[in-house]
Amino acid sequence: MVELQTEQDQALEALAAAGDADALEAWRIAWLGSKGRLKGLMGKIKDVAPEDRAAFGQGMNALKTTLESAWADRQQDGEPDVAPLDVTEPGTAAQAGCRHVITKTIEDMLDVFGRMGFTPVTGPELEDERHNFTALNIPDAHPAREPIDNFYLGDGRMLRSQTSTVQIRVLDDTPPPVRIVAAGRVYRPDTHDATHYSMFHQVEGLYVDRNVTIVDLKSTLLAFAHAFFGEEAEVRMRPSFFPFTEPSAEVDMKMKIKGQWQWVELGGCGMVDPNVLREVGIDPEEWTGFAFGLGVERIAMRKHGIADIRWLYENDERFLRRF
Ligand code: DAH
Repeated sequence: MVELQTEQDQALEALAAAGDADALEAWRIAWLGSKGRLKGLMGKIKDVAPEDRAAFGQGMNALKTTLESAWADRQQDGEPDVAPLDVTEPGTAAQAGCRHVITKTIEDMLDVFGRMGFTPVTGPELEDERHNFTALNIPDAHPAREPIDNFYLGDGRMLRSQTSTVQIRVLDDTPPPVRIVAAGRVYRPDTHDATHYSMFHQVEGLYVDRNVTIVDLKSTLLAFAHAFFGEEAEVRMRPSFFPFTEPSAEVDMKMKIKGQWQWVELGGCGMVDPNVLREVGIDPEEWTGFAFGLGVERIAMRKHGIADIRWLYENDERFLRRF
């Protein structure tokens, strides 16, 4: 009994000395915890003479009650870090991430082309010169192959400079009819400024079948423009040159920018050059096709009024969250 009284004095003294929430918790573990001092004392009951055990048990119960209520008192008198929970208070919403504006633009574009029967495919960003140039009818001496305009790895490989590579990837493997759309990154060593970046995105389309004509090309682009920019959108094709198409054209679309309809240059297109079809073992007398390549950044930047391409890739959340 004397011993239990000493224990109680010690315990209460230690409790009084516990100055903060951590110390209080440490005290609780030391005295009331499942491996605490009280449990240890309880185990000593077997050392107590049989006739004294009942009294010891009662003393232990009393000690336990005293310490527990002393502890509960200390808990209440006010460490504020166990503040009561106000379940009516509005919670802090978890900040979910959002898809990048370029990702969203690509998804929307693939969605429109998907509804027009174009199957989305992808190709590698690390390419070889055959897929990036040779098979696309770009001769060895062509300026597009200049080292200052391309990222060559020095071992015959390069970062693709255009998604037209995917035309070759697909036609090498798939007999026509073929109707695909390929979105992805392309790389060119441009000096970064408001309109140039060394990496950007293109959406490439390819349709090879019997009797495909330039009318199909224009109506496909027009249907895309209507679905993407609205029924009043228009498409303009300006004669141009690309080695892999004949004839070739630049594509402009008239889109609404801040309430005003404006022509925006979006990329290139044309009828697949017979040399390209021959290169992948397709008879150009039997099959014809059209292809187009559209710049994703151009579309996204004009649509959302983004003045500087670098903002897209600086990962500033304040900017990215706007879309
Ligand atoms: N690959 C061209 C470029 O990056 C764009 C292009 C032009 C793609 C004409 C095509 C096409 O599929 O037919 O400048």
